[in-house]
Amino acid sequence: MPTLDGGGVGYGPPAPTRPSPRRPDERIAQVIAQALGDARTVLNVGAGTGSYETEAHTFTAVEPSLAMRARRPAQLVTAIDAVAEDLPFADGQFDAAMALFSVQDWSDVDAGLHEMRRVTRGPVTVLTCDPARVRDFWLYEYAPDVLETEARRYPPLQRLAAALGGTTTVQPVPVPLDCTDSFNEAYYGRPELLLDPAARQPCSAWSFLDDRARQDFDISLRHALGSGAWDEAFGHLRGRPAYDGSLVLLRALP
Ligand SMILES: C[S@@+](CC[C@H](N)C(=O)[O-])C[C@H]1O[C@@H](n2cnc3c(N)ncnc32)[C@H](O)[C@@H]1O
Repeated sequence: MPTLDGGGVGYGPPAPTRPSPRRPDERIAQVIAQALGDARTVLNVGAGTGSYETEAHTFTAVEPSLAMRARRPAQLVTAIDAVAEDLPFADGQFDAAMALFSVQDWSDVDAGLHEMRRVTRGPVTVLTCDPARVRDFWLYEYAPDVLETEARRYPPLQRLAAALGGTTTVQPVPVPLDCTDSFNEAYYGRPELLLDPAARQPCSAWSFLDDRARQDFDISLRHALGSGAWDEAFGHLRGRPAYDGSLVLLRALP
């Protein structure tokens, strides 16, 4: 069962001594930095452990999960306990705002994005997955329930754009073959790594699976790798430098 913790799903109890398993990828960081432009003050909503909070900006972090707040590295700002749907900030307080891998967890996405727009003068940036493309990934053959969960939870891009208002551009974000971040498509050409529960842990959709389903996934992928079936079908991905999957960046201007 997924855990519920201050508005988050599947992020577990506080574990202050456990390091974050997320390692931001520098190529994805560049895409985010470009979207934020020359903003000085940036609001990070659903900030989690602070992936992609670089020194180039002055961040304010909002994170409702005590477990996630407790896991933030000491050098980052302390996150404020609040939710996207009710941000404790003045109108236009920030130069820019971002929500990374977070909107799928919110109880009211429209309200959360309206709030981000309200408190931000410049670009509001949302890194998310396009639910229409989530099932195209090879993982669907081995863990369909995980990708069905993701497809159900990620809001449609049109809905995000409508809630953000103004002008929204949608940019596909290619995933590098040696991506250091931990989401399912990060392993598109390195399927063996997805057999490691630690690699799957940051992706909350896995927490909706019971032990039996996780075992079934493990057995079927191991079997496909051992028999060569995976390589026959998808082996070309092992050498593809980047993968155009479901990852997208929305950038909305007022
Ligand atoms: C998958 S994590 C991503 C964390 C971080 N943005 C990152 O990329 O590492 C999603 C985060 O959204 C937070 N969250 C859940 N519901 C929220 C809400 N209503 N408002 C703001 N954040 C929320 C969760 O607690 C969790 O930390």
